[in-house]
Amino acid sequence: MADSSFICPLLLAFLLSIAGLTHGGKTSSFVRKQRKSVCMPINSDVFQEPPGFNSPQQVHITQGNYDGNAVIVSWVTPKYPRSTRVHYWSEKNPSQKKHSHGISTSYKYYNYTSGFIHHCTLKNLAFDTKYYYVLGVGHFRRTFSFTTPPKVGPDVPHTFGVMGDIGQTFDSNTTLTHYMANPKNPQTLLFVGDLSYADDHPFHDNVRWDTWGRFAEKSAAYQAWICAPGNHEIDYAPEIGETTAFKPFLHRYYSPYKDSQSPSPLWYSVRRASAHIIVLSSYSAFAKYSPQHDWLKGELPKVNRTETPWLIVLVHSPLYNSYNYHYMEGEPMRVAFEPWFVEHKVDVVFSGHVHAYERSERISNIDYNITDGLSFPKRNPDAPVYITMGDGGNIEGLAYSMTQPQPAYSAYREASFGHGIFDIKNRTHAYFSWHRNDDGYAVEADSMWFYNRIYYPVDENTDG
Ligand SMILES: [Fe+2]
Repeated sequence: MADSSFICPLLLAFLLSIAGLTHGGKTSSFVRKQRKSVCMPINSDVFQEPPGFNSPQQVHITQGNYDGNAVIVSWVTPKYPRSTRVHYWSEKNPSQKKHSHGISTSYKYYNYTSGFIHHCTLKNLAFDTKYYYVLGVGHFRRTFSFTTPPKVGPDVPHTFGVMGDIGQTFDSNTTLTHYMANPKNPQTLLFVGDLSYADDHPFHDNVRWDTWGRFAEKSAAYQAWICAPGNHEIDYAPEIGETTAFKPFLHRYYSPYKDSQSPSPLWYSVRRASAHIIVLSSYSAFAKYSPQHDWLKGELPKVNRTETPWLIVLVHSPLYNSYNYHYMEGEPMRVAFEPWFVEHKVDVVFSGHVHAYERSERISNIDYNITDGLSFPKRNPDAPVYITMGDGGNIEGLAYSMTQPQPAYSAYREASFGHGIFDIKNRTHAYFSWHRNDDGYAVEADSMWFYNRIYYPVDENTDG
């Protein structure tokens, strides 16, 4: 007679290996010296206003239409509206100067009144072309530049940066500086939410939205930042009479949401090079029958993987998170949207919110059923990899506390500040690297070759 005490462990090991549970993740052994995250003082050089009375400041750009041959230029003039005009020309045709007019807006928040916030969309640009643009008039003109993405196509390489939860501390400055110095030369930033952290200051001091705008300009004026909204963008504060959610963010950051038939600037999609990027809002309704739910349901079948093989989702609150901070906060959206992510073979979901770095295995929990007692994430080659990039360096500090033991779905986790690079090579391969601030900006603390879920859907843990 067989010894049942021998068979049972073998059977258990077999079942666990089927479920992928024996493939344990890695918690980094890197120990970052703990220090307080401190906001840079208001008179720091990175916050200084540009010279000249009423000069354009807080300049930032984002993609201006669905396929990337338009750019939304945004800036602030502090004292007077002046002009909403943008002069621009391509490097190839410097004598052919053009201009476009935009709109101006402003808002009040408690005892703060914003400057004049301008948004101007430059349309019908050539693809893959460097443009210069000029803001302001007279002596107070400022010149910037950007390069449009290549025309959408399946094998078009493109290098995306990924950052989130930056804020405006000394660590934030290190993150942004390292990002800009990364020799991979990222061309477009995917920003996963929580920009200024103005709401961490008394009465949501909106002066900190202005200092943030000036701080980020050195990158945001020169390359498109594609932003998902985070909880620090909500600025809902009924105790001081501020009951309009997202008021500062929506006045300052525009998106081309109408081009993807979205009813809200908080969620939308764009196509860029070989990627289809879906931006979602963790803090807008997403339950069944809500506008965001209906929009995403209609959007996913429209993704044309023949033209854009890479399907990327940006959403602030992570759907998988093994830290003790914000643990399980992403569950409602996971239950709502994960089956669609798997059905439509999303390649990667980038999130923020948890102030640390984490990369998941390709797993799903779409069998979720609280009554069956068997619900846990399983290996699923159709599922996305979930990457948490809430490690931008904000005032709230790092999330050091992790759930123990590390769950099998978590491939790598580390409580350090840093930035990521998602480098698309062609329709089959992309290379992701994560760069912690404590290293030189070129050092990869974690990395992974991504195999496209449509064109090369093999397990990345093997050599394929
Ligand atoms: Fe957050």
